[in-house]
Amino acid sequence: MAVRRSLTEPAPRGQLAPLGASVSDSDPYGLDLQLALYMCYELHYRGFAGVDPTWEWNPGLLHLRAQLERAFLAGVRRDVGRIEPSQTAAAEMDSLSIESVEGTGPSCWLRDSGTWQQMREYFVHRSLYHLKEGDPHAWAIPRLTGQAKASFVAVEFDEYGAGRGAQVHQQLFADLLTAAGLDSAYLAYLDAVPAESLAVVNLMSLFGLHRRLRGAAIGHFASTEITSSPGSRRLVEALQRLLAPQECAAFYLEHVEADAVHEQVVRADVVGDLVAREPQLDQDVVFGIRAHAVVEDRLADAIMTSWKAGQTSLRRPLF
Ligand SMILES: [Fe+2]
Ligand SMILES: [Fe+2]
Repeated sequence: MAVRRSLTEPAPRGQLAPLGASVSDSDPYGLDLQLALYMCYELHYRGFAGVDPTWEWNPGLLHLRAQLERAFLAGVRRDVGRIEPSQTAAAEMDSLSIESVEGTGPSCWLRDSGTWQQMREYFVHRSLYHLKEGDPHAWAIPRLTGQAKASFVAVEFDEYGAGRGAQVHQQLFADLLTAAGLDSAYLAYLDAVPAESLAVVNLMSLFGLHRRLRGAAIGHFASTEITSSPGSRRLVEALQRLLAPQECAAFYLEHVEADAVHEQVVRADVVGDLVAREPQLDQDVVFGIRAHAVVEDRLADAIMTSWKAGQTSLRRPLF
């Protein structure tokens, strides 16, 4: 693939050399596009060992990244569909809180009948995000002002361990992986997960890295916080049923408690203040919430289709 091949070489200096890759006929959710986009974005986080760091701002690669982003965003916009002008962010957040009792996603499956091996697969799918938890949303900080900014940072402060390195949520998830006998190295499972898992993280990076999409970034953040607590509770129940190591439950227990509080802060003080200050962003917040659901539903469907067929949900089975 063109992006991976290019990154193994030094970035060209001072010239706008386009990369020889075509995006126009790519599936917006396909593995080719999602992996290429993931690698482009990763240059803004920790990068890759052995990859020239100047690729981060290479104009040729940014040109290609823009094409990948356009295709992905068009796919997500198509799937979100039209947002009625009457649909406000406040109403959208209210409807998120009313969860159907009969869930059909992986956390319900794991709670009721999933195996330990399926639980470990679930950890692998989520490792891409949780090992950089907090970071994709943090791009939004400079784009906020006033109370929204103060409250957003207060929630992020908890994600980053509230001043305690051992409690950084990224570290808690690394501890979970180790306890589950999995590789806790950053990006260890980049090539193990399907496109759907990459799209979940790419959507956050896309929203975070574009100031014009800051309303969607905040909507995505709100949706993450509001849906986290009940989902985490189901996973705690699953882990207790499976007699999993204590470090595994600890990660989700932290989210049951913290995110119930975060939800309230995000609703009133982050989204509430943002849309009061910039009412034109209200629909973008709704878009961010719905876009989060689109990529999460795609991942849930992919995992459940595999598990119901008795197959691994990963690109290569775990041992
Ligand atoms: Fe967290
Ligand atoms: Fe949270």
